[in-house]
Amino acid sequence: MSPNAPVLTIDGPSGAGKGTLSRRVAGRLGWHYLDSGALYRAIGVAAGWEGIDLADPEALRRLASRTEIRFESLGEEEPRVLVDGVDATSELRTETAGAAASAIAALPEVREVLVGRQRAFRRPPGLVADGRDMGTVIFPDAEYKVFLTASAEERAHRRFKQLRDKGIEVTLDGLLREILARDARDAQRPVAPLKPAPDAVTVDTTGVPIDAVVERVLSLLPESVRRGGPQT
Ligand code: DC
Repeated sequence: MSPNAPVLTIDGPSGAGKGTLSRRVAGRLGWHYLDSGALYRAIGVAAGWEGIDLADPEALRRLASRTEIRFESLGEEEPRVLVDGVDATSELRTETAGAAASAIAALPEVREVLVGRQRAFRRPPGLVADGRDMGTVIFPDAEYKVFLTASAEERAHRRFKQLRDKGIEVTLDGLLREILARDARDAQRPVAPLKPAPDAVTVDTTGVPIDAVVERVLSLLPESVRRGGPQT
């Protein structure tokens, strides 16, 4: 780990567009990318494979410590995720995995185990870290912090399109309900609740095209940092 590598944290609720934004910004800067939600999803999927009860914190803590999670970068595409050597990329994106991740993410035992693993992603030339508590808990000393939001309706629409494009059957109504329920759970949990870091810049993406969001976020970084990237 290099504590000196700069970090840009991008936190916010499900469906605000953090993943796409983070990968595009990381691509522009030539920085590494951490999808922290994928870690919780991976443990949720592994729990399903092993038949571990989502209400058993100690078994989940042990599972989180022993599960090997590897990311293979595919540029601006979602990275491939290998869970104990098995390609779980598609399974990770299902609503079942999302619901399991949300339940697991409420457990301090599991969050604790993942702190060091997440910090290890901080390597030169820099890191874009996407999640819920990147700017508050994992990288409180990050140089640049963004809190990304969008209306719940817009987030449900985006998720609907994303899942439908992948051939996953869902209803818009069902998704909206799930998004609201997950927001409430993520915001109300006692450990690392979803909230902006005091020094984060809030960016609302409702009705804003992704290209404009990318430019807005890049504009928060000093020009010397932006110029360091591979494509500028
Ligand atoms: O971003 P996502 O939908 O892949 O996240 C899945 C779940 O994990 C979501 O309910 C919130 C939780 N999570 C978290 O608590 N902390 C993070 N840093 C990332 C995700």
